[in-house]
Amino acid sequence: MKEIKKAAVIGAGTMGSGIASHLANVGVPVVLLDVVPAGANDRNVVAEGAIKRLLKIQPPAFMQSANAELITPGNIEDHMALIADADWITEAVVERLDVKHALYEKIDAVRKPGAMVSSNTSTIPLSMLTAKMSDELKRDFCITHFFNPVRYMRLLELVAGPETRSSVTDTLSSFCDVKLGKGVVPCRDTPGFLGNRVGVYALQVAIVEAASLGLKVEEADALMGRPMGIPKTGVFGLYDLIGLDLMLDVASSLRSALPKHDAFHHVAAGIPLISRLINQGYTGNKSKSGFYRERNEDGERLRQAVDLKTGEYRPATRPHIDAAVDGETQGLRALVTHDDRFGRFAWRVLAKTLSYAAALIPEVAEDPLPVDEAMKLGYSWSKGPFEMIDDLGPAWFRKRIESEDMAVPEALRRVGDSNFYRASNDSFERFTFSGKYQKVARAPGVLRLGDLTRTQSAVAANDAASLWDVGDGVACVEFHTKANALGPDSMALIVEALDIVNDNFQALLFHNEAPHFSVGFNLEFALAAAKGKAWSRLDGALDAFQSACLACRYAPFPVIAAPAGLALGGGFEVLLHCDALQAHANTNLGLVETLVGLVPSGGGCKQMLYRWTRDAKEINSALKGALEVFAIIGMGKTAASPLEAEPLRLFGPGDRFSMNRDRLLAEAKAWALEMAQDYVPPARPVFTAFGARGLDAMRAMLDELKAKGVTTPHDLVLGGHLARVLCGGERKESEIMSEDDVLALEREAFIALCDTPATVARIEHMLTTGRPLRN
Ligand code: NAI
Repeated sequence: MKEIKKAAVIGAGTMGSGIASHLANVGVPVVLLDVVPAGANDRNVVAEGAIKRLLKIQPPAFMQSANAELITPGNIEDHMALIADADWITEAVVERLDVKHALYEKIDAVRKPGAMVSSNTSTIPLSMLTAKMSDELKRDFCITHFFNPVRYMRLLELVAGPETRSSVTDTLSSFCDVKLGKGVVPCRDTPGFLGNRVGVYALQVAIVEAASLGLKVEEADALMGRPMGIPKTGVFGLYDLIGLDLMLDVASSLRSALPKHDAFHHVAAGIPLISRLINQGYTGNKSKSGFYRERNEDGERLRQAVDLKTGEYRPATRPHIDAAVDGETQGLRALVTHDDRFGRFAWRVLAKTLSYAAALIPEVAEDPLPVDEAMKLGYSWSKGPFEMIDDLGPAWFRKRIESEDMAVPEALRRVGDSNFYRASNDSFERFTFSGKYQKVARAPGVLRLGDLTRTQSAVAANDAASLWDVGDGVACVEFHTKANALGPDSMALIVEALDIVNDNFQALLFHNEAPHFSVGFNLEFALAAAKGKAWSRLDGALDAFQSACLACRYAPFPVIAAPAGLALGGGFEVLLHCDALQAHANTNLGLVETLVGLVPSGGGCKQMLYRWTRDAKEINSALKGALEVFAIIGMGKTAASPLEAEPLRLFGPGDRFSMNRDRLLAEAKAWALEMAQDYVPPARPVFTAFGARGLDAMRAMLDELKAKGVTTPHDLVLGGHLARVLCGGERKESEIMSEDDVLALEREAFIALCDTPATVARIEHMLTTGRPLRN
């Protein structure tokens, strides 16, 4: 296999700059070229501007800003020679065949023999891209279709032509999977490949049906979001995110590329309202107005939504829809059988989308698996179309579409009364068009908890978490509450798991495949306790939380966590007590309790204090460390990658990260087994109280922030409680404290804060709006 030591990206727009930054994230030097705009003084202005933009965008494109230095900006007139030694050259220039053809000629003239070349095209068939290429270039060429934003979207569609060398696809497939962390789905050379073919169709159907059934955009989004397992942006929110103009272009180029009989044409006719919004400059989030927008009125942020009939903005509502609630709690069938226009909307969207996806078998995809993978990785659906048909029941779904005179796709007819996926004899299998089932095989080094949980029973389980046997003497705790908020049941399962592992396994992992590892301690529980002034109940729950964390830390076997997504607050406190992390590269880590008026009380203050003071030789340098902890926790600082987390000591020097989420579990498991061979649990640390001097130093930090006008009244109250925990309460300077002493101070502070109306208001605000309250 070839090695990629240097890359070049041509086209520094949305996608090209995203690809370049992600290559830089994995340490590959990359040349980024774009055109020289007419009359420009700075001939590299486009690529240079792209790097500046990359350094500012949210969510961050770089895993750490220093990575930007690996990108060399330039232009295609002066700097083509810079790409001569690149191992991989990928283009993300405008979606125009003539522009791409001219560029390939230029690339071919300078590239070194065997350099791989690829296009990021969304819609142009590979056969058209290669039409004018030299035979040699055709052999080194393929399509590598990334999704936006490149760092975060997991799908990479790889399309090879008949001439493409297998060494090219093998190298790019492995590099994009292992190094760049993408889920690589090989696709045939058909319009829109898989993700956009189904995804754009689904969006178009949803818009057409919402308008025809008279739904508000918020209602359609509420139905399309959680109940269907689609990200909560739903359909109109996603349109805004992608850009109305770009969606229009993608839909119209799909329209021109797809054969006349394709069902896409029934839903893809131009939607007049969308053209009107674009003409008014309302192109979505990038223009700050699309189907939704936010307005500041009298200092208050107001969300508005477009009325689909009039095209005018009106205040957005927060719809409560029974069908959506039933769908979320009871499943898809409860959603689509609701006898009202909401149920009808959901049915029509799903009936058409799922049938459309099923009709792609066998011409566009050999079997259901790549279609489901593409939708989960590229559009973040929690289930692929065929998995949704299985949830509805394929026979039930077929009968209902037959009863509505819709065409029944052949794959659906062939699966009959069975399911597209089945778990049998410990193996997880998929239906193929021939009528046989085949094992779902993953790439070497990929281990998915979801594959195991389909074929096994849990070793132990309650409503909040389960313990799974992941093989070779390793067990894994999976959290599974809403957003993985942690409460007493989660802790009970951890304690039970530790006992079971002690007797039957060699190591324990924490891992789950939900979008977020854990958003933290269950705030609803804290709020109920605060409102009922149930202090001993709250103290008991915190004590149980701390005990579970301590039990992980001092277990006689290795405990490794493999988090992804958000791992915040209480979720992060669990991680702080593990021997090591094998984190996903995009994990968000941090203690954010102060945002809801609390201080970390699952051992988070204690463990951060330990990390920042353990190497201190004398009390002054320990106090310096404690002041860092005071700032990190006090400001609720978070890191959006392990690299950003390192300097904050939210990520330890011995921790590791994986680029590909699908490889996390296998990598954590291998590491745990290695560690198990000569495992010795850590020694219990002691802490030093900082007394009045520590409290004064922290108070001075608060006064400084107050003088700058960045603190609110409750921040000062909180700061006082946090300082007390970190300094040892009323203890004198230099007094020695045990872990239990610090933990008791954490609980005291937490409960005292719950007894303040300002903390109650912060928690309530977070639970109702998802945003922090600055009171
Ligand atoms: P964009 O419009 O943001 O950027 C295109 C860039 O190409 C511009 O900076 C332009 O100056 C530059 N360019 C034009 N002609 C050039 C030439 N001859 N040499 C060098 N640079 C040239 O476009 P975007 O969205 O980044 O799309 C680029 C490609 O990626 C297209 O093929 C598109 O279909 C594809 N794509 C776009 C996605 C998206 O969400 N925007 C997703 C996946 C693929």
